Amino acid sequence: MAIEIVLTGAAVGAEIRGVDLSQTLDDRAFAAIDRAYNEHGVIFFRRQSITPDRLLALTQRFGDLQFNTFGEKHGLAGWPGVVLISNVEEEGREIGVKRAGERWHSDMCYTPKPPRGTILYAREVPVQDGLTLGDTCFAATHAAYDALPDAMKRRIAGRKAVFDFAGRVRATPITQAQIDAFPPVTHPIVRTHPYTGRKCLYVMRDDCTGIIGLDKGEANALIEALADHIVRPEFVYRHRWQPGDLLIWDNCTVQHKAIQDYSLPLRRLMHRTTFAAAAVPL
Ligand code: SIN
Repeated sequence: MAIEIVLTGAAVGAEIRGVDLSQTLDDRAFAAIDRAYNEHGVIFFRRQSITPDRLLALTQRFGDLQFNTFGEKHGLAGWPGVVLISNVEEEGREIGVKRAGERWHSDMCYTPKPPRGTILYAREVPVQDGLTLGDTCFAATHAAYDALPDAMKRRIAGRKAVFDFAGRVRATPITQAQIDAFPPVTHPIVRTHPYTGRKCLYVMRDDCTGIIGLDKGEANALIEALADHIVRPEFVYRHRWQPGDLLIWDNCTVQHKAIQDYSLPLRRLMHRTTFAAAAVPL
């Protein structure tokens, strides 16, 4: 069956049809998917049924597996590279990272080399009275950059922001060892996408705690203005999950946020992997 790419109609996102991810993709099919991924920032496949081994194999077609610190506690038993994102509790214990990503962010922006992308595979999705809950929103950072006034583009050109692991308020408390493992880093506010060459805004509330060369007050005002601009509705695609969805996002082209509008007994269970690029220029 031929691969079909169906755009969401939002600033990012495309559904890929005609692909069974439980089978090994030939090089041609993978190249088409990789191109769609670079172009659309978020791609998803419906009705997939894959094992953790297949998920890891797919992940490593995109880039080297990148371990997430939250996987140390909530990795899938036997597959530590697969992080469980879930609100489910078993015998009084949380089986996964709860309320993960409830604020706008780009994954692991607090590391010197943030990952190229992230895969989320939906195993269980909360539904109440026929309404699906627990959507994930994605904001197009290239569209947000393009829409900036020229004066703002000039103001931020060449500037770097400080990213601090301890800056974000998380539902899962972080430890001193994690804080020590991730000292603050700097990244350009405007990133050039390594594959498309598009300029993408890379700044967010919480994780960004300063801008090099600006005093605290000026930096905070600029961070807030840019962060709020990026997530304006016209730049956002909101994904409504179905069990069996496998979705891949690009951590340069989009920021994302998980909508926490459900709680037990409604269950949500996702498998997440993260991959680096061979060499990701920031
Ligand atoms: C995340 O930020 O990785 C979690 C996204 C989600 O669970 O929808």
